[in-house]
Amino acid sequence: MSNQENLLEVKNLRKYFKVGDGGLFGAKRSYLKAVDGVSFNIKKGETLGLVGESGCGKSTTGRTIVRLYDATGGEVNFDGTDLTKVPERDLLPFRKRIQMIFQDPYASLNGRMTVTDIIGEGITTHGIYHGAERQERIFDLLNRVGLKREHANRYPHEFSGGQRQRIGIARALAVEPDLVICDEPISALDVSIQAQVVNMLEDLQDDMGLTYLFIAHDLSMVKHISDRIGVMYLGMLAETAESEELYRNPIHPYTKALLSAIPVPDPKLTRQNKRIVLKGDVPSPIDPPEGCRFASRCPLASDKCRQVTPHLTDRGAGHMVACHNA
Ligand SMILES: Nc1ncnc2c1ncn2[C@@H]1O[C@H](COP(=O)(O)OP(=O)(O)O)[C@@H](O)[C@H]1O
Ligand SMILES: [Mg+2]
Repeated sequence: MSNQENLLEVKNLRKYFKVGDGGLFGAKRSYLKAVDGVSFNIKKGETLGLVGESGCGKSTTGRTIVRLYDATGGEVNFDGTDLTKVPERDLLPFRKRIQMIFQDPYASLNGRMTVTDIIGEGITTHGIYHGAERQERIFDLLNRVGLKREHANRYPHEFSGGQRQRIGIARALAVEPDLVICDEPISALDVSIQAQVVNMLEDLQDDMGLTYLFIAHDLSMVKHISDRIGVMYLGMLAETAESEELYRNPIHPYTKALLSAIPVPDPKLTRQNKRIVLKGDVPSPIDPPEGCRFASRCPLASDKCRQVTPHLTDRGAGHMVACHNA
């Protein structure tokens, strides 16, 4: 399926948000470190799953890659170009090549536009097809995402949640992108249609040669679609590995806890490891202390963990773990 070429190389990516006004008399300004040194690669035609609890920085990572946010630091090398250094006026070709699919298809679709206008907007902006060809292209896209010609002149409110997400997917694919950032595309959908949409995304990937960054908040849905998975905690990656390897041999205590939380589908099967319930809450990402971000909840934490930030190290065959003690 893939060659060895990386389409995307994210290096030490950081995105800090300023919070508060810094106070009077030059008091120290606070930073919310939403993404704090994230590195990963995605090969052409592959899918990287990015997983972690709500608030850990997944969407900010995606939005910084597509330049909805300017990075605080680091690199986003897309097909050889560092997007963090491209001036705004030169971004249009990259805005065509990298598309996003959002969690809430209702909020992300303009309710006053017809399906044809929504899907066709990017085709027009990028001048890909015109006139009758453009309309044929829109019908073709509707067909590819499991909708019908007669849906073309309807408005988003006339569709179910799953159908709206299909419209969002057609809109993203209309401009023939190379990379699609899928930001929790199934989290808002009924469980019964989640698998349908994932299967459709996989078929579209094969047909159109797409590369995916697939964001999810738990590990239950990403195994099947992902070639590799990155587990994020509070702005940093805790562990990355090939999908099978991550499920078979999780090393980071946070990954183990996330895996233990996946419901076992068949009640007659008992899981090998019992559920690990983490103590405490996710700490604040505002001015986080030195050391491992997970230390306050970690069963293995030692003094070193509270002082020295662990970085990803290779534990063999590209299985990377950021932990002093595991
Ligand atoms: N535009 C913003 N301004 C300030 N803080 C933000 C902004 N967007 C996200 N955050 C904060 O950054 C952190 C990561 O958020 P987000 O990337 O949305 O996480 P996730 O997608 O993993 O749920 C959270 O603490 C969130 O409150
Ligand atoms: Mg998010």
